[in-house]
Amino acid sequence: MLNNMPQIAIAPMLDWTDRHYRYFMRKISKKTILYTEMVVADAIIHGDRDNLLEFNPEEQHIVLQLGGSNPEKLATSARIAVEYGYQEINLNCGCPSDRVQSGKFGACLMKEPELVADCIKAMQEAVSIPVTVKQRIGLDYDYNYDYCAKFVETIATAGCKSFIIHARNAVLKGLSPKDNREIPPLKYDYVYQLKKDFPDLNIMLNGGIKTTTDMINHLELVDGVMLGREAYYNPYLFANFDNQFFTENNPVRTRKEIALDMIPYLENHLAQGHRLHHVTRHMIGLYHGCKKAKLWRQQLTTNIIKSNNIKDYIDLLGIMDE
Ligand SMILES: Cc1cc2nc3c(=O)[nH]c(=O)nc-3n(C[C@H](O)[C@H](O)[C@H](O)COP(=O)(O)O)c2cc1C
Repeated sequence: MLNNMPQIAIAPMLDWTDRHYRYFMRKISKKTILYTEMVVADAIIHGDRDNLLEFNPEEQHIVLQLGGSNPEKLATSARIAVEYGYQEINLNCGCPSDRVQSGKFGACLMKEPELVADCIKAMQEAVSIPVTVKQRIGLDYDYNYDYCAKFVETIATAGCKSFIIHARNAVLKGLSPKDNREIPPLKYDYVYQLKKDFPDLNIMLNGGIKTTTDMINHLELVDGVMLGREAYYNPYLFANFDNQFFTENNPVRTRKEIALDMIPYLENHLAQGHRLHHVTRHMIGLYHGCKKAKLWRQQLTTNIIKSNNIKDYIDLLGIMDE
């Protein structure tokens, strides 16, 4: 682990890690690194930038994940990201979806280490914030540590110092993105070996982490851990992380305190003419594992959607307990 300070991150997840989810998670942990959903470089250059990139300053430390494979466009996007206040850029080399492959980015870039190196170099020259890579350990059914290590080495030579490794292969044909997160076997040994072979690189492990015990075990051997689905389904898992993994010494806040803390944000969201559900849909997992988890989930997915009334949310909190 570099500097003896672990890195804990919540994975970029399309449709899930939007600004509302990130704001909510920031109420639970101040130290966890948050990622945007993947944003395509072309969309940043030609699309509705504010909509794609704006975030609440309270979300920091926040990393923008970019999708793309054109060095110039990625460099332009990186510059724009800095203007918006992002503290780090990450290049997606791990997403296996057909749509992403047809745009020649995501996991299929693992076939082209030199191109990825050019992309990293172009971004690194354009901005002074860190540029990192999120990748798989390999492609299709080819389990080859040397290929994985060579990929990392090539990108590192271009100036990338930090790698997030989803410890599975990506199967480019025949598996859906969902299957690609479940069927290819997890090979944590590859990630541990990368840390041994490249001790000066920052190596963060991702894939299948569900508990603090998992995290502690991995952190013996790598610099950081990134949680995806578990962070979404069970957000309260993060409630004590600032104390447990960092040097904070704060009272652990209850679920209810966190939910109450969201009220000004929800009111502001409503005042802008938006619907409560845009935010509360990300909070469904807050009571995961509690007696009233079902009640919370049902209310957030029925009454709150229908009424769109903050009073119903406050009334619901009145009957929730830990
Ligand atoms: C709904 C969903 C959307 C995802 N979108 C992205 C994405 O935009 N970029 C990316 O690099 N990975 C994406 N992923 C993959 C996650 O970042 C992560 O690598 C994967 O879920 C494995 O981690 P986990 O086992 O902790 O969930 C997505 C995963 C899910 C479940």
